[in-house]
Amino acid sequence: KSTIISLSEITKFQSKEEEFSPYRWYRHMLKQEPVVYNEETDSWHVFKYDLVKTVLNDHEHFSSVRERSIVNVGYSSEGEGADSGHHIPDKLDIHNVDPPEHRKRRSLLASAFTPRSLKLWEPRIQAVADELVAEFSQLPEVDIVQAYTSLFPVIIMSDLLGIPSKDRLLFKEWVDILFMPTTDATFSRINEMKKNAGQQYFEYLYPFVVSKRTNLAEDIISDLIQVEVDGELFTDEEIVRTTMFILGAGIETTSNLLANSFYSLLYDKPELYTELRDNPELVGNAVEEMLRYRFHISKMDRMVKADNNLLGVELKKGDAIVAWMSAANMDEDMFEDPFTLNIHRPNNNKQLAFGFGTHFCLGAPLARLEAKIVLTTFLRTFSNIEPVSGFILEDHLTPSAAGQSLTSLPMRLYK
Ligand code: HEM
Repeated sequence: KSTIISLSEITKFQSKEEEFSPYRWYRHMLKQEPVVYNEETDSWHVFKYDLVKTVLNDHEHFSSVRERSIVNVGYSSEGEGADSGHHIPDKLDIHNVDPPEHRKRRSLLASAFTPRSLKLWEPRIQAVADELVAEFSQLPEVDIVQAYTSLFPVIIMSDLLGIPSKDRLLFKEWVDILFMPTTDATFSRINEMKKNAGQQYFEYLYPFVVSKRTNLAEDIISDLIQVEVDGELFTDEEIVRTTMFILGAGIETTSNLLANSFYSLLYDKPELYTELRDNPELVGNAVEEMLRYRFHISKMDRMVKADNNLLGVELKKGDAIVAWMSAANMDEDMFEDPFTLNIHRPNNNKQLAFGFGTHFCLGAPLARLEAKIVLTTFLRTFSNIEPVSGFILEDHLTPSAAGQSLTSLPMRLYK
């Protein structure tokens, strides 16, 4: 039995484009097979909103301690393909653990994401948006992925960690390598690169953490140095590894949200641009709707911890189960007219892209703030945008950690 559950065996998408916009498949699964067992991969799949919530939140029956997983990329302690040379010690692993142990680990990490930090960081996040937009504000055309959406989250994270800005491109280089997806064919070559990058990252950051101890400032590393939960503190090495985990969880996800939001403004509903420019107070709602409607990389797996019938089928201890949050976001029993992008939806903040319950994304407030600032700053600068002719979506997508990501998105800019 393979430890990695291959999702392509289940979705059978015919093109990258179909995976990027899987509406037809979601519609079919929600109607015809809301809970289904897949023989080839020996795994269960669940699509309905209420059932997805149950799987994510009921840790008594659905455990995050897994023997098999859908994750096959990035820096993590799971699976072989995931190894970049440094394992996450148990104390830091928050993703693969259930309550009660999960509570303490989560509190340790949560110290880095308090609302107080977010308020303090807002001007720094705004400054990065201003700087990046200024670099292309005079151009007639820009590739928004290269110039803005893929740069922004990595610069923000290196800034919030406290990395000096002169080193931030170096930092980006390591991060890009550390979270590169691999296939069977590329695994050994890319894993070698990951080991090197992981080594360099560690050698750079470790002395940095040590010196931070006597130079505390307003940054995540300083927060991690000071936090104490039930008498537990982080060691320097644990702090370095924790930053890697945060980067793995927070960069590609946010980049995808930003790029997909611009895609929506160009192709899903172009009239939205003017509406948002005239009513910037709607940007928060728009971000929520993008997470619901345009964020298709969201699915999480669990392992059945105790035999149960909670989803209306007989589940056995040890079964693997995948909860498709992005499909749940298209459930008509929860969202009216779900296949329409509508930023005025009253309940779009009930979308499940950040998960639900016990493991709900710790970085959600930061990701929301980043998206709001990225879009608002852009909207203030340009009166309108337009697609460039001849753009073929299929040629601008690449498989990434959890789905298809835009590699470039050219657009015309109007001042
Ligand atoms: C957990 C999505 C951005 C840090 C999660 C989970 C999801 C998610 C679905 C739940 C996993 C589960 O149920 O097993 C997203 C999306 C993002 C985003 C869609 C952006 C659009 C971020 C950022 C950070 C972050 C910016 C940090 C800088 C975390 C952490 C967890 C987590 C630490 C683990 C929480 C736990 O297990 O208790 N995220 N994330 N995420 N996320 Fe995010």
